[in-house]
Amino acid sequence: MVRIPVSDQMNDIELKSYLPLLGKEIVIATSGSLSVYRVPDLVRDLRREGANVRVAMSPDSAKLVSPELMKWASGNDVATGITGNVEHISLLEGGNKTLLIVPATYNTIGKMASGITDSVTTALFSHAIGNGNPVIAVPVMHLSMFTNPVMTRNMEFLREIGVRFVNPVELQGKAKIPANDSVIDETIRSFAGVQAGKKVLVITGNGYSEIDPVRVITNRSSGETGYWLSRALYRMGNHVTVLGNVPRELPQQIKISEAFSVKEYFDGIKFLLKEAYDMVVVPAAIPDFTVEKSSKKLSSSTKQEIQLVPQAKLLEAIRKLHRGVIVPFRLTSKDDRDHLEHFRDIGAEAVVANHYDTGTTPFGSGRGRYLFVSLGSEEEIIAETKEESCSKIASLLAGLVS
Ligand SMILES: Cc1cc2nc3c(=O)[nH]c(=O)nc-3n(C[C@H](O)[C@H](O)[C@H](O)COP(=O)(O)O)c2cc1C
Repeated sequence: MVRIPVSDQMNDIELKSYLPLLGKEIVIATSGSLSVYRVPDLVRDLRREGANVRVAMSPDSAKLVSPELMKWASGNDVATGITGNVEHISLLEGGNKTLLIVPATYNTIGKMASGITDSVTTALFSHAIGNGNPVIAVPVMHLSMFTNPVMTRNMEFLREIGVRFVNPVELQGKAKIPANDSVIDETIRSFAGVQAGKKVLVITGNGYSEIDPVRVITNRSSGETGYWLSRALYRMGNHVTVLGNVPRELPQQIKISEAFSVKEYFDGIKFLLKEAYDMVVVPAAIPDFTVEKSSKKLSSSTKQEIQLVPQAKLLEAIRKLHRGVIVPFRLTSKDDRDHLEHFRDIGAEAVVANHYDTGTTPFGSGRGRYLFVSLGSEEEIIAETKEESCSKIASLLAGLVS
C-alpha cells in the first residue's frame, strides 16, 4: 500500500489500495453555508484517494466551522484571508491543481460571476479561472435561491467560462450538499483533461426470470463491474448512462435506468437506443433461460419440474438498434478461446473475458482478472479491486472510440 507521509501522526489517513488522485493537488475553498460541516469528511475522503488537499475559508464559513478542524482534516495550514503570502495566488502555484468551491453560497457564486473578490474564496476563483485551473463548484442553498433567475443566469455564465458544477441534492425543500462520491468523481475527471467525452451506455447487473409470483431464477452477478466501470468511464470524461442494477448508489452525474427482469432490460434498450451512443458495454448477466411462469405460487409439498427455455439474446437486440461499438463481457471457462469469434454475429469490436474456474470468484468487489481481447491483441488485467481493474478496462475501451 502506498502511503503519503504526514508530519502529524494524528492526521494519518488509511489510504485505499487504488489511488486515482495520487500526486494530485486540490485546493478546497469554502463559503458560508451550514453544510460546511460536511467538508472535513470530504477532505479526508479525497486524501484517502491519494490527494494532497489544502483548505481556504471565507470569513463567514470560518464562523460556522473552525479552521482548526480543517487543519486537522487536511494536515495542512488553512487560509482564512489574504495576507502578505498572497494566498489566492500561492495556493494554486505549481502544477495542475483543481479548485473545488464547496459549499458555494448564493453570495459567492454571484460574486464569482460578477468579478468581486472580497474573500479568499472569491479571490482564488478569479486567479484560477484566469490561470486555467479546473474549477468545480458545489452550490448549496434553499431551492428558492438555487432556482431563481439570478442564480440560473450566474450558473449559465460560469458554465460558459468553464466552471463545472456538481448539483446539490434536493431534500426537504433545500438544495443539500451531494454525496462525497459525486464530488470525488468530478474531481478525478477534472484532472483527465478530456474536452469532449464519448457517449457510453453500460448495461449491468443480474436480471431474473420469474418462476411463480414470488420466486425467480437469477445468477450470482453482483453488478460491481458495471458500477465501477461506469464510474471509471465518467472519471475519464465520458457521458455515461447505466441500464440495469448496481449494488449501491452511483454518483449523480451517471444516469441510471433501472432494470431487473429480462423484459425490463429489453424495454430499456429499446427506449435508450433511440438515441445514438458511441459505445455500448455489456457486463450484465441477463438470464440465458426463461421459465414458463406459474400464475399460482408453486407448492413446496410436491416435486416441481422447471423447464429452462433459451432466452432471446440481448446482444442481438442491441446490435439491431445500435451502430456504434459493442463490447460484451464473457464469463467463461479458462480453456475457452476465440472470444471475438464467439460474438462474430453481432460484430463486437472487443470482448472482456473472465473465468469462473480459476480458483477466485469473478463475482463481488474483490480481485479482478480479465482478458481484454480486440482485433489482433490480447491484454491480461489483474488487480486487487474491481475499481482498479475497471479503471484499466475503461482505458482500453477508450482506445476503441478515440
Ligand atoms: C447559519 C447560516 C447558514 C447559512 N446557509 C447558507 C446556505 O446554505 N447557502 C447560502 O447561499 N447562504 C447561506 N447563508 C448565508 C451566507 O452565509 C451569507 O450570504 C454570507 O454573506 C456568505 O458569505 P460567503 O459567500 O463569502 O461565505 C447562511 C448564513 C448563516 C448565518
